[in-house]
Amino acid sequence: MNGVKIRAAAHYVPSAVLGNDQISTWVDTTDEWIVKRTGVSQRRISEGENTSDLSIEVGKQLLGSAGLAAEDVDLIMVATITPDYLTPSVACLVQEGLGAVNAFAFDISAACSGFVFGLSTAQKYLASGQYKNILIIGADVLSKITDWDDRGSCILFGDGAGGVLLVADPDALYSEKLHSRGGTVINGGHMEVVNPFSKRERKFDFLKLDGREVFDFAVKSVTENITELLEKVGMTLDDIDHIIPHQANGRIIEAIAKKLKTGLEKFYVNIQKYGNTSAASIPIALSEMFTNGTLKQGTGKKVILVGFGGGLTWGSVLMSV
Ligand code: COA
Repeated sequence: MNGVKIRAAAHYVPSAVLGNDQISTWVDTTDEWIVKRTGVSQRRISEGENTSDLSIEVGKQLLGSAGLAAEDVDLIMVATITPDYLTPSVACLVQEGLGAVNAFAFDISAACSGFVFGLSTAQKYLASGQYKNILIIGADVLSKITDWDDRGSCILFGDGAGGVLLVADPDALYSEKLHSRGGTVINGGHMEVVNPFSKRERKFDFLKLDGREVFDFAVKSVTENITELLEKVGMTLDDIDHIIPHQANGRIIEAIAKKLKTGLEKFYVNIQKYGNTSAASIPIALSEMFTNGTLKQGTGKKVILVGFGGGLTWGSVLMSV
């Protein structure tokens, strides 16, 4: 069946906590408004650690808990939109940090869908039979590109990283439905790369977004995406144990549950603690679920991981754990 198995899951977030009350000291907002409209109570903010630092911590934890030597890692992928540099990739920095000398490494740029796209990529490499141990890490330091004076967006985001060690498992379930729609600019982009000869001004320095438009896109696309994935495998939501959505806004998740006519308890939600951590949000949730006992390797529980974000990009993966 070309399935895959999560051999280890891990996450790492910076220690500094930024609460809603602190944000309300510099923009016109309140804790009450933020909690009611987004579900976010606090987020972690890096005070110097870069995307590679967070990712390396995750990589070390993954190797440690799996008892795997760094030399046995075949491929490292980091999904991020906030790399330390344009080049080298964060994945190459992780390779160096871990001493994974036999791996090859590259980054994936698919915004908040990056981890799901990474899982899909890893599954193909594993199915080829040429590679055994793949690290997929989702990591973002969104505080680097957040406009901290824009109350409509700065309340949403946080920093963090999470990841998995993925191996092949022919008996495990795996299916996916991934999408992009280029040309639809909702998230305005950031820090355009402009050469000095082009005579062009840089248009974006920070992440810009039309919150309402993103909200509507997310609810519609995720609902349709989960439905088409279930149709593809001939299952219904009753067959699924957990849905692990990208954590963008608690109200988005509630609206998706309502449209799918299922209870919110099927969805894992931790946005109150971390805000929207982009590519990191799904693997942080996965890692927490293994730590708090919601998931256990070898139980065969069926989970859907669903991401959506800039690009536009969106997609879901169904797998058993
Ligand atoms: N505090 C207080 N008021 C705020 C505010 C804040 N932090 N941010 C916006 N407002 C105000 C607006 O100015 C507006 O006031 P007005 O009615 O006087 O014009 C009012 O609140 C409603 O704004 P609106 O944008 O319609 O609110 P909303 O319910 O859509 O919530 C978001 C805004 C950004 C929280 C919400 O749209 C969202 O989460 N969207 C998804 C964004 C996202 O996740 N992007 C990344 C995707 S991966």
